[in-house]
Amino acid sequence: MQAAPSPLLEIYDTLFNDKNIRLLIKRDDLLHPIISGNKFRKLKYNIWQAKKDGQKRLLTFGGAYSNHIHAVAAAGKQWGFETIGIIRGERNYPLNDTLSFASKCGMKIYYISREEYRRKIETEFIEQMHNNFGEFYLLPEGGSNLLAVKGCAEIVREISVPYDCLCCPCGTGATMAGLIAGSHGEKAVLGFSVLKGMRDLEENVAQWVVKYCGKEFINWSIIHDYHFGGYAKVNPSLFSFINDFHLKHNILLDPVYTGKMIFGIFDLIRKDYFRGGSTIIAIHTGGLQGWDGFISNQH
Ligand SMILES: Cc1ncc(COP(=O)(O)O)c(C=O)c1O
Repeated sequence: MQAAPSPLLEIYDTLFNDKNIRLLIKRDDLLHPIISGNKFRKLKYNIWQAKKDGQKRLLTFGGAYSNHIHAVAAAGKQWGFETIGIIRGERNYPLNDTLSFASKCGMKIYYISREEYRRKIETEFIEQMHNNFGEFYLLPEGGSNLLAVKGCAEIVREISVPYDCLCCPCGTGATMAGLIAGSHGEKAVLGFSVLKGMRDLEENVAQWVVKYCGKEFINWSIIHDYHFGGYAKVNPSLFSFINDFHLKHNILLDPVYTGKMIFGIFDLIRKDYFRGGSTIIAIHTGGLQGWDGFISNQH
């Protein structure tokens, strides 16, 4: 698995002229036709590790529309692993587009209740999974572990233009931890939480950074104002922003992660959050397969 540097593209808008701001988008969504964005970054070293350990099977967890489940299924098919997806909640037929794709890639799908799902990081629960499925390489929910942080830290190394602030959407916070680790505290990093009331997000990010770098950095923060009501919650103004952005810049954002981040960046620029003269780099973390879930849910 080899991440070529993803392109860095400048976005032009009259708002940026008025506020004397530059916005560039690092197009990690273009890294791979299916395993795109932060999924590519997070899986890279995990796949290497699984190969190195001689593992034949990957087991992971996710929701029914999870980008991570989608990516792990594709990665398993591409790099020769059996894959098992443990899905939160009720079995639904017909399978939605995400799970149908995963299943076509060969992923074996099992459903567990939301209560059981909460136990997914308990040792006893993982032992039970081993009793059921035998040997496997465990990928946590969202693919978020220290090897994922390592992969995401590489994003920063690929950036050769001067900038002031890196932005990314946050779910578990592992991608953001990678950006902080990769920039060694030299540049500001701003995360946009896509979940409501994620009180421990800052703590999770800080812990990953310390575990990975052996030290703390302080010039980062998480904005909690653009979750639009919670995970995968949307409203007409978000949809219309994503649509306009696509028409103007020919870049498709997803409604769960990158749409909320870019919406937030525009709003913060309007509110003079960023100093005039700043250059902002936003990471397009992919997630475009999520549209299929949205579209099929509307019918
Ligand atoms: C497209 C996309 N962007 C951003 C994130 C958030 O990443 P993290 O969980 O590392 O915060 C996710 C979830 O993994 C995602 O699928």
